[in-house]
Amino acid sequence: MTNRGEGMGRSNDLERYFRHNGGRQIHKWLHYFDVYDRHFSRFRGRPVTVVEFGVQFGGSMQMWQDYFGPEARFVGVDIDPRCRSWEDAQTTIMIGDQADREFLRTVGDAAGTIDILIEDGGHRPAQQIATFEELYPRMSTDGVFLIEDLHTSYWPSYDGGLRREGTFIEYAKNLTDGLNAYHSRQPDFVVDEFARTTRSMHFYDSIVVFERGAVSPPTHEKTGLASWDPAVQAARARRVQPDDALHRRVRAAVPKPVRDAFWKARRRVRREVRQLRRRVSGSR
Ligand SMILES: C[S@@+](CC[C@H](N)C(=O)[O-])C[C@H]1O[C@@H](n2cnc3c(N)ncnc32)[C@H](O)[C@@H]1O
Repeated sequence: MTNRGEGMGRSNDLERYFRHNGGRQIHKWLHYFDVYDRHFSRFRGRPVTVVEFGVQFGGSMQMWQDYFGPEARFVGVDIDPRCRSWEDAQTTIMIGDQADREFLRTVGDAAGTIDILIEDGGHRPAQQIATFEELYPRMSTDGVFLIEDLHTSYWPSYDGGLRREGTFIEYAKNLTDGLNAYHSRQPDFVVDEFARTTRSMHFYDSIVVFERGAVSPPTHEKTGLASWDPAVQAARARRVQPDDALHRRVRAAVPKPVRDAFWKARRRVRREVRQLRRRVSGSR
């Protein structure tokens, strides 16, 4: 169990697997398990495509197989040709350098639409950024891209340092602007592919998670009464107080289709009034 987040105080299946692992070696920071489960649990038992960069001894790949189940398909990527030996019926292993964009495109072609990408490879910014740029656009519309060990963005031995330009952490910080692009009032800040396809970004110690989703222009509404006057509020509250007996009599007297038509028309009128209000306030 970790004390770092959502799952505080309770263990999850991944952590239990890790704790009892008698198979190949897995190397993980312990607070990762909560993060994995939080973002991956909805894919369990489904026929998803999972790509893992950084296979090493193959232990994490075995853990993912156990977690996602027999319906899932796996692609493991590593620069070390010895990792080929971890290939099995469920798993394809591809050997190459993740800084090589040509190679990454062949990974993308072999994997097809990727649902989950776990980036745990070489940990250098050029490798991480190339992997993100080449494969993120190829992911499914509700896919999850998780990149870990980002503390290396702060380590000089990995070309990192606090706020050092070019690290993946700085790159990810810049991408957060895209989450707000629909609100832009500047011609050089536009809704691009990233903004249209990224629902959220999550920053944790050493991990960033990108959750994809079809993002449409945001809308807002106002409901309730705009007044600070308690008397007005009270009068309004009295007026909408439901009279249960009356409601029951109306329900008994008016057939359901008629009631449904009434509520539908009411909703439509309210919607149109809201749109009209928006248009009027927008043109001011
Ligand atoms: C941290 S280990 C992976 C650990 C494993 N995922 C686990 O959880 O136990 C990193 C792996 O990335 C691989 N790697 C290093 N540089 C790479 C590169 N440029 N391209 C692809 N893989 C690389 C290494 O060979 C190593 O097996």
